[in-house]
Amino acid sequence: MEIGQVIGATTLRGFRFVIKKGMEKYVKRDEFVTTKEAVTGNEILGIIKEITISNELLPDEFGRDLRLDDIILIEGEYPVPTVKILGYEHGNGLELPRYGIKPGSPVRLARNETLKRILKQDEEKSALIGALSARESVPVYLSINDLVSRHCAILAMTGAGKSYTVGVLVEELLKKNGSIVIFDPHGEYKCIKTPDSTTRVFSFRGRDKICIETSSLGIGDFTNLIPDITEPQRDLLDEILVIAKKFYDKYDLEVIRGILSLIYELKENKDVNSEIIPVEYLRDMAKRVGLSTIGALMRRIDRLSRMEIFKLDGTPLNEIVARNQLTVIDLSDADERISETIIAAISRRIFEERKQYVNEGKGDAIVPTFIVIEEAHNFAPRTTEDRKILSKSILKKIAREGRKFGVGLCIVSQRPNRLDADILSQCNTQIIMKIVNPSDQEYIRQSVESVTEDIVRDLPSLYRGEAIIVGSAIKLPVSVRIRKRTTEIGGEDIDVVGAWKNAR
Ligand SMILES: Nc1ncnc2c1ncn2[C@@H]1O[C@H](COP(=O)(O)OP(=O)(O)OP(=O)(O)O)[C@@H](O)[C@H]1O
Ligand SMILES: [Mg+2]
Repeated sequence: MEIGQVIGATTLRGFRFVIKKGMEKYVKRDEFVTTKEAVTGNEILGIIKEITISNELLPDEFGRDLRLDDIILIEGEYPVPTVKILGYEHGNGLELPRYGIKPGSPVRLARNETLKRILKQDEEKSALIGALSARESVPVYLSINDLVSRHCAILAMTGAGKSYTVGVLVEELLKKNGSIVIFDPHGEYKCIKTPDSTTRVFSFRGRDKICIETSSLGIGDFTNLIPDITEPQRDLLDEILVIAKKFYDKYDLEVIRGILSLIYELKENKDVNSEIIPVEYLRDMAKRVGLSTIGALMRRIDRLSRMEIFKLDGTPLNEIVARNQLTVIDLSDADERISETIIAAISRRIFEERKQYVNEGKGDAIVPTFIVIEEAHNFAPRTTEDRKILSKSILKKIAREGRKFGVGLCIVSQRPNRLDADILSQCNTQIIMKIVNPSDQEYIRQSVESVTEDIVRDLPSLYRGEAIIVGSAIKLPVSVRIRKRTTEIGGEDIDVVGAWKNAR
């Protein structure tokens, strides 16, 4: 359908056109149009990015002495849409034109078939995320291989629909028998019900309690878990961990507590007999530390024991990572530091086991896994004011190397400018929803290659549930209406007035 004609000076990046009479209703922002390239005659696809309406009878200068309710003028009015060129179809993608566009060339509405063909992905390997904002009948698919192995980020201000979108992705990945692990700080994913797959929820209470293998924790983890640890206590614990590693295949907090007791007794010149650890390993330590340090560290270890999370064995990895399974690690009862430690410990294990599986063909993590980090700015922050955030280093590692081992990362955040720039730039697919904060916009533009100025400009005007998707999992950067979910999800907005009205 011809809707207009190219006017003015054109460039290889864009052109403007006049609208044919009666065609105004088809011309709107984000609509796709085509025109012909000079010389080759290639059909060039473009997208309407701006519409300027001016009226020759009402130039700006008239503003000085006109009162607007005096005049309504349709005559003399002409809208001029500005089109950004996306390219012409070549092989499997789009290529930018080389010859330019002649003024006067006809402009047509792009056909649905053309858009479908360009956005098409192998159905077996893609996720249906929604439809084009401008064309409800054109579905948008994401390449799952790209999305998972080259990571993705879902960024938007609060309430824009990030978690909802994660839910859609989860549904799609489960249709392909995927393995997904969500670290869920607000406990909003635990009610996801998926008819043909397993959902397992691990939390801090009840039957499916999350357990972490104590011997997998380093001194950094302990320091994080015990915020009030002093320098001498830390040094002592560090030495004890070295000894525990030396004499035990695996140990728990009881073992650490036991070693501390031995040192305490040595200090008090009691006769000690220890079956596993030769006493001479401990005697020297006993000389160097004070009784009060030992006692204080004991109390802190006891405090950790009472959480009943750090055990001899962690939750078996094959219960967390499994084919056709969504695993929700509900962190809503954990404080920040414990959440960090749990995310770090489990992500580390998934990564190490996948690495082992890929390199040696053994281990528990036999399927590739997609790890979703909600509130990622807390777990992979850009700056760490006063302390090291433990989870950041492993998330960084997964962002860099996960692709080789089938460990994918999905970073979800409402504060993009507080995210680590390295991790953000390693996410090759970006699902960006409404963002109004200029510093967040600017930070995304700087950190992510495929996010351009005009994309950033559109972010404040997106609706809830609408996203701009750019990057490797999609053929073309497009504005998408995220599809409706088929499963239930928690974390919905509360109808405050309704709740007051119905409360008794
Ligand atoms: N594509 C969509 N279709 C229909 N409803 C949606 C869609 N996206 C979001 N919503 C609704 O909008 C509300 C907020 O969505 P959601 O919880 O996903 O926001 P969020 O970005 O995760 O917010 P927060 O940053 O607070 O976690 C929810 O009630 C959700 O049901
Ligand atoms: Mg959310």
